[in-house]
Amino acid sequence: MTKPKLILDVDTGSDDAVALALAMLGGEAELLGITTVNGNLELKLTTDNTLRVVDLCGMGDRVPVYPGCEYPLVSTLNPRSAQSMRPIPKREGTSAGKFGMHSDHLPLPATDLAPQKQAASVWMIETVMAAQPQTITLVALGPLTNVAAAMRVQPQFAQRLRRIVLMGGADETGNETAAAEFNIWADPEAAEILLQSGVPITMIPLDATHQAFLSEEQAEQIDAIGTPLARFIAQLLRDRIAGYAKRDPEMAAKKIAPLHDALALCYALHPECIRRSVETVCHVDLGGGAAYGRTVLDRRANMVQEKPNCTFALEPDREFFCDWLIGILQKAAEKNG
Ligand code: BDR
Ligand code: CA
Repeated sequence: MTKPKLILDVDTGSDDAVALALAMLGGEAELLGITTVNGNLELKLTTDNTLRVVDLCGMGDRVPVYPGCEYPLVSTLNPRSAQSMRPIPKREGTSAGKFGMHSDHLPLPATDLAPQKQAASVWMIETVMAAQPQTITLVALGPLTNVAAAMRVQPQFAQRLRRIVLMGGADETGNETAAAEFNIWADPEAAEILLQSGVPITMIPLDATHQAFLSEEQAEQIDAIGTPLARFIAQLLRDRIAGYAKRDPEMAAKKIAPLHDALALCYALHPECIRRSVETVCHVDLGGGAAYGRTVLDRRANMVQEKPNCTFALEPDREFFCDWLIGILQKAAEKNG
């Protein structure tokens, strides 16, 4: 069976790091390249962190990293926008930053690996246009600036993709704001460009990722695998459990944390990891007020005029997801001896 061809767009970031490592070590996909974007941290840090993970996985000569956009498309230019005072979302200014979820540098050695010279969106366009139509899946794990820019520059880009799987959105409750999930909030106009593009999109929102949590016991199980990568992931998971404990009493009591981006990658490779989803019309609130960046699902049944533009995941198969994640780390350890 041929492996699915993937492009990963990331803002590394602790859960991005886990997804990246699983994509590289799992060997389930042909990873064409990684693109980085401003998001959890400013671009130079998300790029450096990405390169550190690539180095840890020993993939420096196989997986190129292309730095992308430093700023959201327009949101920081709008004086009415909640983001106008914050040209680049700073770690200390975002909710994840306040709870210590993404430190400037991942706890990994500095790397000599260098990013590619070509800009992320330009490389994405060249790669997708040169490939057989509808053969590449784009897995977007950060704000959608790079992807939206590619769609605007090359109008054929969207229709040449097989599909987009993105971590983002929230129906029940946001994380960055009461209404909005971080990746969509960080560049809402970019997300709306994707949702209007016609490309098949699956959104893996907080509604799904919060149910696909990992526990402290699982952190120990991962640590016990003993490879540098497994130890690193166990440490990230523990840090996330500590971070979530400060913001969510229920997660504090259970000592658990989600690894949002890893679930989105898992779905791209194993759609059965999502048990329940809806085909729906979804748009992003761009009004600049309290709901700015919210993903609004149209649930009016027969009254909906538009065709569904995305599949919105609602419930994961948590056991499948955890077994998949831990299984990759175990197999990688066995392979290395
Ligand atoms: C998303 O925002 C980021 O902080 C994470 O990396 C994830 O992609 C969760 O809302
Ligand atoms: Ca991310």
